[in-house]
Amino acid sequence: MRLDLDNARERDAADPLRHWRDRFVLPQDAEGRELVYLCGHSLGAQPALAAEYVEEVMRDWRSLAVDGHFAAHRPWITYHQRLAPVLAGLVGAEPIEVVAMNTLTTNLHLMLASFYRPAGSRTALMIERHAFPSDRHAAESQVRFHGLDPARDLIEIAPREGEDCLRTDDVIEAIEREGARLATLLLPGVQYLTGQALDVAAITTAGRRAGCTVGWDLAHAIGNVPVGLHDAGADFAVWCHYKYVNGGPGAVAGAFVHARHAQRDDLPRLAGWWGHDRATRFQMGPEFRPIPGAEGWQLGNPPILALAPVAASLQHFEAVGLAALRAKSVALTGFLEALIDARLGGRVTILTPREPRARGAQLSLRLECGRDRARAAFDGLRARGFVPDWREPGVIRAAPAPFYNRYEDAWRFVDALDAELAAA
Ligand SMILES: Cc1ncc(COP(=O)(O)O)c(C=O)c1O
Repeated sequence: MRLDLDNARERDAADPLRHWRDRFVLPQDAEGRELVYLCGHSLGAQPALAAEYVEEVMRDWRSLAVDGHFAAHRPWITYHQRLAPVLAGLVGAEPIEVVAMNTLTTNLHLMLASFYRPAGSRTALMIERHAFPSDRHAAESQVRFHGLDPARDLIEIAPREGEDCLRTDDVIEAIEREGARLATLLLPGVQYLTGQALDVAAITTAGRRAGCTVGWDLAHAIGNVPVGLHDAGADFAVWCHYKYVNGGPGAVAGAFVHARHAQRDDLPRLAGWWGHDRATRFQMGPEFRPIPGAEGWQLGNPPILALAPVAASLQHFEAVGLAALRAKSVALTGFLEALIDARLGGRVTILTPREPRARGAQLSLRLECGRDRARAAFDGLRARGFVPDWREPGVIRAAPAPFYNRYEDAWRFVDALDAELAAA
């Protein structure tokens, strides 16, 4: 594999998705120079179309006010419903199984309220030891909410000693070992720190065989890797839209509830009027009849201004298709990996799995020069106009996003890191 700058540029010239970069507004430094943005795993870059969608809502609000609910260019009353088919495609679901609402952590609590139902000897909630803090706080507080003790009923699975990633066999073995006392399993589709993509199908199957409910946090997976929630049989999933989905800071999040639960009025849930039957919602009656499917978990009417950038971005996903994005992503991240191995081998360890099917766009790097020098190298990268991010205890995450990153970005990043490490 040729790994020089000319080769990176040849790859960009041959990239069938290269023109999509022009539809994004990439950040610049104080002098107006474009930054090399590698942080789509944290906050995706802005699609230019997002501003138009937001302005459309502002315009409709100005001219129509309350009538905008039904008469807006894209009526607000059904705004979220129009997103469902594209979202369903991104997570491998049927439209009835997905809804855009709230934030990820809110949705996680709503889902756990319905699907973590400790009873008899099945009281435990299983998470990973290195779960994103919000997932851990949600899980732990849910255990306490049921009057249980996290020391006993919050089970953690961790990578083996000396390893960074979870082995699928170990996860399945833990599920089988703890099976009889497991009420719910909650895992990430893509682990935020290592970038590892878990085997959603195999782990969900094992969880369901063990008799527990299975939920997924797809924050780092949606728009990044293909996920097949419906076929896997997951009970629920939650995600945000501000990472690879490019929906903007604090964008309205998403949730999945499997179709087998769609008509279940018996499931306990924390309800609100936007989850009530659409046909009778405005009769303002006291009874609650949930909309079949994920929409039945909605609470209040959605923040349309915060949904608008998500709607704009999903239009791009619909036009390109996840398969084409994923194909470029595998090639682009593979190129970044090959460059790191060739130029930084021995000085940088890639924590992310090597097999493309076990990762998304992100590579997580440990610099083998001690935490403080690694932090100095990271600061140096920022000063040179590169935007990866830093996560304690000393990991640099860099994600070339297929919508707007180039092979040249990967080359320049590794070249700059090489220079920073030489200076460290
Ligand atoms: C894996 C994961 N879970 C949960 C969250 C929290 O999401 P929110 O703040 O949108 O609720 C994040 C945020 O980055 C995340 O990466």
